[in-house]
Amino acid sequence: MSKICVVGTGYVGLPAAACFADLGNDVVCVDVVAAKVEQLRRGEMPIYEPGLEEMVHRNVKAGRLYFTTDYTKGIPEADFVFIAVGTPEAPDGHTDMSYVESAAKSIGQHLHGHTIIVNKSTVPIGTGDWVHGLIAEHTTEGQTYAVVSNPEFMREGQAMFDFLNPDRVVIGSADRSAAEEVGRLYEPLNAPIVITDLRTAEMIKYASNAILANYISFINQIALMCEALGADVKQVAQGMAYDKRIAGQFLNAGIGYGGSCFPKDVKSLAMVANDHNVDPTLFRSIIEVNNVMRQFFVNKVAKLLGGSVKGKEIAIWGLSFKPNTDDMREAPSLDIVKALQDGGATVRAYDPMAMDVARRLLPGLTLCTDAYEAAASADAVLLLTEWNEFKQLDMERIKSEMRGNLLVDGRNLYDPAEMREVGFTYAGVGRN
Ligand SMILES: NC(=O)c1ccc[n+]([C@@H]2O[C@H](COP(=O)([O-])OP(=O)(O)OC[C@H]3O[C@@H](n4cnc5c(N)ncnc54)[C@H](O)[C@@H]3O)[C@@H](O)[C@H]2O)c1
Repeated sequence: MSKICVVGTGYVGLPAAACFADLGNDVVCVDVVAAKVEQLRRGEMPIYEPGLEEMVHRNVKAGRLYFTTDYTKGIPEADFVFIAVGTPEAPDGHTDMSYVESAAKSIGQHLHGHTIIVNKSTVPIGTGDWVHGLIAEHTTEGQTYAVVSNPEFMREGQAMFDFLNPDRVVIGSADRSAAEEVGRLYEPLNAPIVITDLRTAEMIKYASNAILANYISFINQIALMCEALGADVKQVAQGMAYDKRIAGQFLNAGIGYGGSCFPKDVKSLAMVANDHNVDPTLFRSIIEVNNVMRQFFVNKVAKLLGGSVKGKEIAIWGLSFKPNTDDMREAPSLDIVKALQDGGATVRAYDPMAMDVARRLLPGLTLCTDAYEAAASADAVLLLTEWNEFKQLDMERIKSEMRGNLLVDGRNLYDPAEMREVGFTYAGVGRN
């Protein structure tokens, strides 16, 4: 059993803290947002993540998980302090490091004895060394510490599963024994543990996100060609996926990636490459293709509605950037809804989990209680997020309650022949 403090209780920090507690450790979570901490203390989850609430409740009850805004309650006692604060995009495309900076200063001020500081946030290469210096500036004499990079690879929507069943755990440090101690926290998970130096671990995270984003932009570029040339991108991806050298499960054509990671991380990688005189052409192309897909989708809807969306009623199914999360950061839906509204359409939407977030981010949008209500009397239905509950809707009923018959499938979820059989004018992305 170790004493762990997790700084930042967001989409990464909270699941990680709950899982570490579930493995038998004593975990204190420190967050600067008092309302969030109060909510957690009342047993309410500030985010939606399947399985999170139950695990948090179980471990709070067992006395292994505690929430506070007070650094003095978490840092001095801790063997390990995990930094899991946000690293959003700065206005110029670099990474905004202000949260990491402020967390590192506070950690430095409260260190006591020997502590291993583990950075879980996704941070530009070189941050570990910078954090080491920041802590040195703010700590008092006699305290000792090591800085370790331990990037997180969990996917929102399956964060609990991913944390407990990682493909690998990456740990980087100049201090080998500190890295091994962090490795021991993950021993119960029986995952391969990759120990590297600090900068290599930081680069593994960016390189992994960039290649995943690359797969998406790559297959989307192929999708655009399929559409122009009369091929079916879904079958193309299936045909490619048999090749063991190709990561087939990530070749999903559609309206592109969103979320709090791929967009900002690929952008940051391109900026850092440029800063160091490395040509970032490939990274920039990934971003460009991704941006193109949103506009392409809106143009396609307009074309299928006779050239313009003006005066049309349009239903949106799915607002979160992917299924099983309420996260709408950088979601394609944000740009698509706005473009449709700007074009003069009346837009209604339904999402199984992101309605509260949508109310905040898209104040002018009419929100419906289910997919049927959103589609009723609509000229077109647009599927933007492939939630399970959209897979087996009564499509006959949807069609009969609509004013028009257009179904534009931004995730290639439906079978085109089946949808045409029901009477829809069906369009996917990259298939005719
Ligand atoms: N969301 C993901 O799926 C995911 C996956 C892998 C890695 N990451 C990375 O993990 C990091 C965290 O991402 P997230 O999605 O959990 O962010 P988030 O915004 O959901 O959570 C960050 C939390 O940190 C808190 N915080 C900010 N400054 C603080 C401080 N000084 N002290 C204490 N708490 C502070 C915020 O209040 C917030 O609760 C980012 O670097 C991100 O790139 C995210």
